[in-house]
Amino acid sequence: MNITLCCTDTKAEPWLAGLRAAFPEATVDVWQPGSAQADVAVVWAPPQRFLDEQQALKALFNIGAGVDALLKLHLPPGVRVVRLDDAGMSVQMAEYVCHAVIRHFREFDGYEADMKAGKWSYRRPRDRKDFAVGVMGLGVLGERVARALRVFDFPVHGWSRTPKAIEGVFTHSGEVGLETFLSASRVLVNLLPLTPDTQDILNRQTLGRLQPGGYLINVARGAHLVDADLLALLDSGHLAGATLDVFRTEPLPPEHPFWQHPQITLTPHTSARTLRDESIAQIAGKIRALEAGQPIAGVVDAIRGY
Ligand code: NAP
Ligand code: GLV
Repeated sequence: MNITLCCTDTKAEPWLAGLRAAFPEATVDVWQPGSAQADVAVVWAPPQRFLDEQQALKALFNIGAGVDALLKLHLPPGVRVVRLDDAGMSVQMAEYVCHAVIRHFREFDGYEADMKAGKWSYRRPRDRKDFAVGVMGLGVLGERVARALRVFDFPVHGWSRTPKAIEGVFTHSGEVGLETFLSASRVLVNLLPLTPDTQDILNRQTLGRLQPGGYLINVARGAHLVDADLLALLDSGHLAGATLDVFRTEPLPPEHPFWQHPQITLTPHTSARTLRDESIAQIAGKIRALEAGQPIAGVVDAIRGY
């Protein structure tokens, strides 16, 4: 077997070492223009030239959960695209989202500012019944996040394409369920994949349906959000704030108004990182399963877009 690695912005050596240890009988190399045809590729944001040259690939293992960038490229015919299936991401996402929700709900930013100013003062405790959290996307990450939020007794709503049942979570689905889902939520967490159906879904109309004093947590993709609409809703006071981990252009350009906005908390696309060892173990297990003709989880449906 010939395994090729083509991962932009990723240190190749540790991945090569891990894959070579898992497949001592195989050739495992970093792709370069003109490399031999590989059977399997491990990729992150590969250039189109890589796919044009590697027409014999049977499977492409993406070292992330989101495949939006990959699906924009022309793929070799019949290739299976396989996403990272949790591999340590869902617990990180649950930490990140619970932290953001609790930080907002408990007004920890305000307390921090007060204490820095030498001010010892109390804010009136808020009622968590008034802070229903809506999770858009109830897949590998969204379901884990919804369950984690329930641990803190927030009312939790979830929205997905197809109907779901998650204990303790009010679930909604499809276009018909969207309005009820949004108007039931005060804090909105986006964990949708980026597809033609979900691009720009966080806009003036949808965010405007959140309860007054709404709060947005976008941890999926920057192109889900219409930036100007978020700014307008913050300025109008309908939204109280936002925590954003992902942006239309990354790194976020220095002149972007999000940098200086007092109600926006930013992180640099770090809410759920790819954990190398877990990811290599998962990918290796799946390559072995494919070799044995067994089914694997995480195969992307290119028509659906995730
Ligand atoms: P997933 O398992 O594929 O789940 C996607 C969920 O979204 C599913 O519940 C799906 O509904 C729902 N969905 C898709 N299209 C929809 C639509 N048009 N209307 C309503 N619901 C729709 O994805 P995941 O692993 O949870 O990851 C979600 C996204 O998080 C990734 O695609 C990626 O962009 C992002 N991400 C970000 C980071 C970061 O560090 N910021 C890290 C990892 C992932 P069904 O269940 O009915 O199919
Ligand atoms: C990160 O954003 C991922 O999709 O894994």
